[in-house]
Amino acid sequence: MEENLVVSMPRIGDKAPEFKAVTTQGNIIFPADYAGSWVILFSHPADFTPVCTSEFMTFATMEQQFADANCKLVGLSVDGLYSHIAWLRTIKDKIEYKGMKDVEVKFPLIEDITMEVAKKYGMMMPGESSTKAVRAVFVIDPKGILRTIIYYPLSLGRNFDELYRVVIALQTADAFSVATPADWRPGDDVIIPTAGSCGVAKERMESKDENIKCYDWFFCTKKLDKETVLKTVIRKK
Ligand code: BEZ
Repeated sequence: MEENLVVSMPRIGDKAPEFKAVTTQGNIIFPADYAGSWVILFSHPADFTPVCTSEFMTFATMEQQFADANCKLVGLSVDGLYSHIAWLRTIKDKIEYKGMKDVEVKFPLIEDITMEVAKKYGMMMPGESSTKAVRAVFVIDPKGILRTIIYYPLSLGRNFDELYRVVIALQTADAFSVATPADWRPGDDVIIPTAGSCGVAKERMESKDENIKCYDWFFCTKKLDKETVLKTVIRKK
Protein backbone atom coordinates (compact mmCIF):
# COMPACT_ATOMS: atom_id res chain seq x y z
CA MET A 1 0.00 0.00 0.00
CA GLU A 2 1.23 3.50 -0.76
CA GLU A 3 2.15 5.18 2.53
CA ASN A 4 0.90 8.63 1.50
CA LEU A 5 -2.54 7.17 0.91
CA VAL A 6 -2.93 5.79 4.41
CA VAL A 7 -5.88 7.91 5.41
CA SER A 8 -8.70 8.35 7.87
CA MET A 9 -12.01 6.59 7.30
CA PRO A 10 -14.98 8.52 8.62
CA ARG A 11 -17.63 6.39 10.27
CA ILE A 12 -21.40 6.45 10.47
CA GLY A 13 -22.39 8.63 13.42
CA ASP A 14 -19.26 10.85 13.15
CA LYS A 15 -19.43 14.55 12.44
CA ALA A 16 -18.70 15.06 8.74
CA PRO A 17 -15.02 16.10 8.45
CA GLU A 18 -14.69 19.81 7.69
CA PHE A 19 -12.97 21.29 4.65
CA LYS A 20 -12.91 24.34 2.39
CA ALA A 21 -12.94 23.71 -1.35
CA VAL A 22 -13.11 25.27 -4.78
CA THR A 23 -16.01 23.95 -6.87
CA THR A 24 -17.66 24.52 -10.23
CA GLN A 25 -20.21 26.64 -8.33
CA GLY A 26 -17.71 28.70 -6.31
CA ASN A 27 -16.03 28.16 -2.96
CA ILE A 28 -17.67 26.11 -0.25
CA ILE A 29 -17.13 25.53 3.45
CA PHE A 30 -18.25 22.01 4.22
CA PRO A 31 -20.44 20.98 5.97
CA ALA A 32 -21.22 24.44 7.47
CA ASP A 33 -22.70 25.77 4.21
CA TYR A 34 -25.16 22.87 4.23
CA ALA A 35 -26.44 23.19 7.80
CA GLY A 36 -30.17 22.53 7.85
CA SER A 37 -30.11 20.41 4.67
CA TRP A 38 -29.40 16.80 3.97
CA VAL A 39 -26.44 16.48 1.64
CA ILE A 40 -24.94 13.71 -0.44
CA LEU A 41 -21.19 14.15 -0.84
CA PHE A 42 -19.97 11.72 -3.48
CA SER A 43 -16.73 11.06 -5.31
CA HIS A 44 -16.13 9.81 -8.83
CA PRO A 45 -12.88 8.44 -10.23
CA ALA A 46 -12.23 10.82 -13.10
CA ASP A 47 -13.73 13.38 -15.48
CA PHE A 48 -14.16 12.34 -19.12
CA THR A 49 -14.82 8.69 -18.29
CA PRO A 50 -17.92 6.76 -19.36
CA VAL A 51 -19.32 5.33 -16.12
CA CYS A 52 -18.89 8.71 -14.39
CA THR A 53 -20.60 10.47 -17.29
CA SER A 54 -23.61 8.15 -17.05
CA GLU A 55 -23.72 8.79 -13.29
CA PHE A 56 -23.54 12.58 -13.56
CA MET A 57 -26.26 12.67 -16.19
CA THR A 58 -28.50 10.52 -14.00
CA PHE A 59 -27.80 12.44 -10.78
CA ALA A 60 -28.22 15.85 -12.45
CA THR A 61 -31.55 14.72 -13.92
CA MET A 62 -32.70 13.76 -10.40
CA GLU A 63 -31.37 16.88 -8.67
CA GLN A 64 -34.81 18.49 -8.24
CA GLN A 65 -36.19 15.22 -6.82
CA PHE A 66 -33.46 15.28 -4.15
CA ALA A 67 -33.97 19.04 -3.58
CA ASP A 68 -37.67 18.41 -2.91
CA ALA A 69 -36.53 16.06 -0.14
CA ASN A 70 -34.29 18.84 1.26
CA CYS A 71 -31.18 17.06 0.00
CA LYS A 72 -28.33 18.79 -1.85
CA LEU A 73 -25.69 17.10 -3.98
CA VAL A 74 -21.94 17.73 -3.96
CA GLY A 75 -19.53 15.84 -6.23
CA LEU A 76 -15.75 15.46 -6.02
CA SER A 77 -12.89 14.00 -8.00
CA VAL A 78 -9.15 14.48 -7.84
CA ASP A 79 -9.26 16.39 -11.13
CA GLY A 80 -8.80 20.16 -11.46
CA LEU A 81 -11.45 22.83 -11.89
CA TYR A 82 -10.85 23.40 -15.63
CA SER A 83 -11.16 19.68 -16.33
CA HIS A 84 -14.46 19.65 -14.40
CA ILE A 85 -15.78 22.65 -16.33
CA ALA A 86 -14.77 21.20 -19.72
CA TRP A 87 -16.27 17.81 -18.90
CA LEU A 88 -19.58 19.22 -17.66
CA ARG A 89 -19.76 21.44 -20.77
CA THR A 90 -19.17 18.38 -22.98
CA ILE A 91 -21.95 16.51 -21.18
CA LYS A 92 -24.35 19.40 -21.74
CA ASP A 93 -23.40 20.13 -25.33
CA LYS A 94 -22.68 16.70 -26.77
CA ILE A 95 -23.93 13.70 -24.83
CA GLU A 96 -27.31 12.15 -25.38
CA TYR A 97 -27.75 9.01 -23.30
CA LYS A 98 -30.84 6.99 -22.44
CA GLY A 99 -33.20 9.81 -23.34
CA MET A 100 -31.21 12.36 -21.33
CA LYS A 101 -29.77 15.26 -23.28
CA ASP A 102 -28.79 18.89 -22.75
CA VAL A 103 -28.12 17.90 -19.14
CA GLU A 104 -26.76 20.71 -17.03
CA VAL A 105 -24.98 19.74 -13.83
CA LYS A 106 -25.94 22.56 -11.48
CA PHE A 107 -24.66 21.07 -8.24
CA PRO A 108 -21.07 21.84 -7.16
CA LEU A 109 -18.24 19.58 -8.26
CA ILE A 110 -15.18 19.93 -6.00
CA GLU A 111 -11.67 20.10 -7.43
CA ASP A 112 -9.32 18.08 -5.27
CA ILE A 113 -6.02 17.74 -7.09
CA THR A 114 -4.15 17.65 -3.78
CA MET A 115 -6.44 14.76 -2.65
CA GLU A 116 -6.86 16.56 0.68
CA VAL A 117 -10.61 15.98 0.86
CA ALA A 118 -10.44 12.54 -0.74
CA LYS A 119 -7.96 11.42 1.92
CA LYS A 120 -9.97 12.99 4.75
CA TYR A 121 -13.06 11.08 3.66
CA GLY A 122 -11.33 7.76 2.90
CA MET A 123 -12.18 8.02 -0.79
CA MET A 124 -8.72 6.81 -1.87
CA MET A 125 -8.41 3.03 -1.86
CA PRO A 126 -4.94 2.11 -3.17
CA GLY A 127 -5.88 -1.52 -3.78
CA GLU A 128 -8.39 -0.24 -6.34
CA SER A 129 -6.47 2.82 -7.61
CA SER A 130 -3.78 5.08 -6.17
CA THR A 131 -4.59 7.93 -8.57
CA LYS A 132 -8.38 7.96 -8.62
CA ALA A 133 -11.02 8.14 -5.88
CA VAL A 134 -13.44 5.22 -5.68
CA ARG A 135 -17.17 5.87 -5.98
CA ALA A 136 -17.89 6.88 -2.39
CA VAL A 137 -21.24 8.16 -1.13
CA PHE A 138 -21.71 10.01 2.17
CA VAL A 139 -25.24 10.88 3.24
CA ILE A 140 -25.05 13.67 5.82
CA ASP A 141 -27.95 14.96 7.89
CA PRO A 142 -28.95 18.59 8.61
CA LYS A 143 -26.82 18.53 11.78
CA GLY A 144 -23.70 17.52 9.83
CA ILE A 145 -23.67 13.89 11.02
CA LEU A 146 -22.67 11.08 8.65
CA ARG A 147 -25.70 8.82 8.43
CA THR A 148 -24.88 6.43 5.61
CA ILE A 149 -21.64 5.55 3.80
CA ILE A 150 -21.56 3.43 0.63
CA TYR A 151 -18.57 2.53 -1.52
CA TYR A 152 -18.51 1.21 -5.07
CA PRO A 153 -15.49 0.20 -7.15
CA LEU A 154 -14.40 2.01 -10.31
CA SER A 155 -16.23 -0.25 -12.72
CA LEU A 156 -19.65 -0.16 -11.04
CA GLY A 157 -22.07 2.70 -11.67
CA ARG A 158 -24.26 3.61 -8.72
CA ASN A 159 -28.02 3.09 -8.44
CA PHE A 160 -29.42 6.57 -7.85
CA ASP A 161 -32.91 5.32 -7.07
CA GLU A 162 -31.30 3.48 -4.15
CA LEU A 163 -29.55 6.66 -2.96
CA TYR A 164 -32.90 8.47 -3.07
CA ARG A 165 -34.49 5.58 -1.15
CA VAL A 166 -31.73 5.89 1.49
CA VAL A 167 -32.43 9.62 1.99
CA ILE A 168 -36.19 9.07 2.29
CA ALA A 169 -35.73 6.08 4.62
CA LEU A 170 -33.38 8.00 6.93
CA GLN A 171 -35.77 10.94 7.09
CA THR A 172 -38.68 8.58 7.76
CA ALA A 173 -36.77 6.84 10.56
CA ASP A 174 -36.03 10.22 12.16
CA ALA A 175 -39.53 11.65 11.76
CA PHE A 176 -41.48 8.62 12.98
CA SER A 177 -38.94 6.96 15.35
CA VAL A 178 -39.03 3.72 13.39
CA ALA A 179 -36.64 1.54 11.40
CA THR A 180 -37.15 0.46 7.81
CA PRO A 181 -36.99 -3.20 6.75
CA ALA A 182 -35.28 -4.78 3.75
CA ASP A 183 -36.18 -3.16 0.45
CA TRP A 184 -38.48 -0.67 2.21
CA ARG A 185 -40.22 1.94 0.12
CA PRO A 186 -42.72 4.61 1.22
CA GLY A 187 -46.06 2.89 1.85
CA ASP A 188 -44.49 -0.33 3.14
CA ASP A 189 -44.81 -1.26 6.81
CA VAL A 190 -42.09 0.09 9.13
CA ILE A 191 -40.42 -1.56 12.09
CA ILE A 192 -41.30 -0.52 15.63
CA PRO A 193 -38.17 -0.37 17.81
CA THR A 194 -37.73 -3.53 19.87
CA ALA A 195 -39.59 -3.23 23.17
CA GLY A 196 -37.36 -2.35 26.10
CA SER A 197 -39.11 -4.67 28.54
CA CYS A 198 -40.89 -8.04 28.52
CA GLY A 199 -44.12 -6.35 29.57
CA VAL A 200 -44.18 -3.99 26.59
CA ALA A 201 -43.16 -6.82 24.22
CA LYS A 202 -45.98 -9.03 25.50
CA GLU A 203 -48.50 -6.20 25.24
CA ARG A 204 -47.42 -5.51 21.69
CA MET A 205 -47.58 -9.19 20.72
CA GLU A 206 -51.14 -9.32 22.00
CA SER A 207 -52.16 -5.97 20.53
CA LYS A 208 -55.49 -5.88 18.77
CA ASP A 209 -54.36 -2.79 16.82
CA GLU A 210 -54.78 -3.86 13.22
CA ASN A 211 -51.99 -1.48 12.17
CA ILE A 212 -49.48 -3.50 14.18
CA LYS A 213 -48.20 -6.92 13.19
CA CYS A 214 -45.76 -8.95 15.29
CA TYR A 215 -43.77 -11.80 13.77
CA ASP A 216 -42.19 -12.53 17.16
CA TRP A 217 -41.50 -10.54 20.35
CA PHE A 218 -38.47 -8.82 18.77
CA PHE A 219 -39.99 -8.13 15.34
CA CYS A 220 -43.08 -5.94 15.10
CA THR A 221 -44.13 -3.70 12.23
CA LYS A 222 -46.80 -1.07 11.84
CA LYS A 223 -48.50 0.52 8.87
CA LEU A 224 -47.28 3.93 7.73
CA ASP A 225 -49.04 5.09 4.63
CA LYS A 226 -47.19 6.53 1.70
CA GLU A 227 -49.00 9.85 1.78
CA THR A 228 -48.00 10.47 5.40
CA VAL A 229 -44.36 9.67 4.63
CA LEU A 230 -44.22 11.84 1.53
CA LYS A 231 -46.06 14.72 3.19
CA THR A 232 -43.42 14.68 5.92
CA VAL A 233 -40.26 14.32 3.85
CA ILE A 234 -41.09 16.03 0.55
CA ARG A 235 -41.20 19.79 0.74
CA LYS A 236 -41.74 21.07 -2.76
CA LYS A 237 -40.76 24.71 -2.97
C1 BEZ B 1 -15.55 5.28 -15.74
O1 BEZ B 1 -16.14 6.17 -15.16
O2 BEZ B 1 -15.93 4.81 -16.81
C2 BEZ B 1 -14.28 4.74 -15.14
C3 BEZ B 1 -13.46 5.57 -14.43
C4 BEZ B 1 -12.30 5.07 -13.91
C5 BEZ B 1 -11.94 3.76 -14.11
C6 BEZ B 1 -12.81 2.92 -14.82
C7 BEZ B 1 -13.98 3.42 -15.34
